[in-house]
Amino acid sequence: MRCLLFLLLWGLPQIRRTSEVPQRNFPFRCLQISSFLNRSWARTDALAWLGELQPYVWKNDSDTIRFLKPWSQGTFSDQQCEELQHLFRVYRSSVTRDIQEFAKMLHIAYPLEVQVSAGCEVHPGNTSESFLYAAFQGRDILSFQGTSWVPAPDTPQWVARVIEVLNDDQGTREMVQSLLNDTCPQFVRGLLETGKSELDRQVKPEAWLSSGPAPGPGRLLLVCHVSGFYPKPVWVMWMRGEQEEPSTQQGDILPNADETWYLRVTLDVVAGEAAGLTCRVRHSSLGGQDIILYWAPIKTSCDCPCHTCLSGTHDLKFQGRQCSGIESEREAP
Ligand SMILES: *[C@@H]1O[C@H](CO)[C@@H](O)[C@H](O)[C@H]1NC(C)=O
Ligand SMILES: *[C@@H]1O[C@H](CO)[C@@H](O)[C@H](O)[C@H]1NC(C)=O
Ligand SMILES: *[C@@H]1O[C@H](CO)[C@@H](O)[C@H](O)[C@H]1NC(C)=O
Ligand SMILES: *[C@@H]1O[C@H](CO)[C@@H](O)[C@H](O)[C@H]1NC(C)=O
Repeated sequence: MRCLLFLLLWGLPQIRRTSEVPQRNFPFRCLQISSFLNRSWARTDALAWLGELQPYVWKNDSDTIRFLKPWSQGTFSDQQCEELQHLFRVYRSSVTRDIQEFAKMLHIAYPLEVQVSAGCEVHPGNTSESFLYAAFQGRDILSFQGTSWVPAPDTPQWVARVIEVLNDDQGTREMVQSLLNDTCPQFVRGLLETGKSELDRQVKPEAWLSSGPAPGPGRLLLVCHVSGFYPKPVWVMWMRGEQEEPSTQQGDILPNADETWYLRVTLDVVAGEAAGLTCRVRHSSLGGQDIILYWAPIKTSCDCPCHTCLSGTHDLKFQGRQCSGIESEREAP
């Protein structure tokens, strides 16, 4: 069986790339989460990502931003970092106070949740783009555009009042412009240098098949697991020969603990039609050689009760020999 499929594949033309791995970019995104349970209880936590990596975390109970990577400082000097740290410390305590004052002035009921997302992206031509958005109770309420604060569409009435107060504060607006226009892109250019080897790393996925809970009588849920890959862009498809199975369902790409990714891709099929299907995985780390896993036909003369393989959540790979429904093979170069 293995040989046959191997030969079969050998003779098949290479699939044309339907989905080229897109150009990598590394947006720098800081997320602040401020929770206010009542008038006196508040905490603010923050974290930041560069692309898929998280170089910083700042917990409410800490006075300093924690660097999670050896390259987190970028090309900034200790003094520049200390100045920024000081600025953010002042920001954190004043934003807490300001939100509490707004809540009082505008009679907004607790608990409150405020999220701020800010950052920038440096493009290949050395141009950059920056952003700052704020959300209240999970809904966008305002952003910083050009030189001033603007409300998001369809915000509650009181947001206009907040915007007015914020825009009156010329000093803060200039500070925000300087951070967004200059500091952020400059800092990120440094990070792209110091973090280069980790940002550019390639980790190959492992893939395996299993069957999920039977979707209905006489049906099979084929599950293709792809795990441990980096970077995130990946292409996984159930195929019959060179034909993509259009009812392939792709899950969310989930994080593993080691900064690699996991993806589960399923196909609901009539049990009799599962034979000959393959799961095909394409990833930048594989150097153009896709991983192909075969859902081989279940032998009719199998010793163990075949229905245990065909239904339930058993991973076929770990069933007894006779019943093994899976063979896997790397595609020949
Ligand atoms: C605010 O919430 C905290 C935590 O639940 C509680 O311990 C505290 O008593 C509350 N304070 C007020 C003024 O309600
Ligand atoms: C968060 O940090 C502030 C400032 O250090 C502190 O006053 C506050 O009690 C902390 N909040 C919680 C919930 O620990
Ligand atoms: C990119 O632009 C910044 C600011 O405009 C400049 O300081 C830097 O030297 C430029 N870098 C390169 C590689 O051109
Ligand atoms: C910052 O950039 C915006 C455009 O994004 C521009 O309107 C504004 O004048 C710039 N401010 C400063 C201080 O450079």
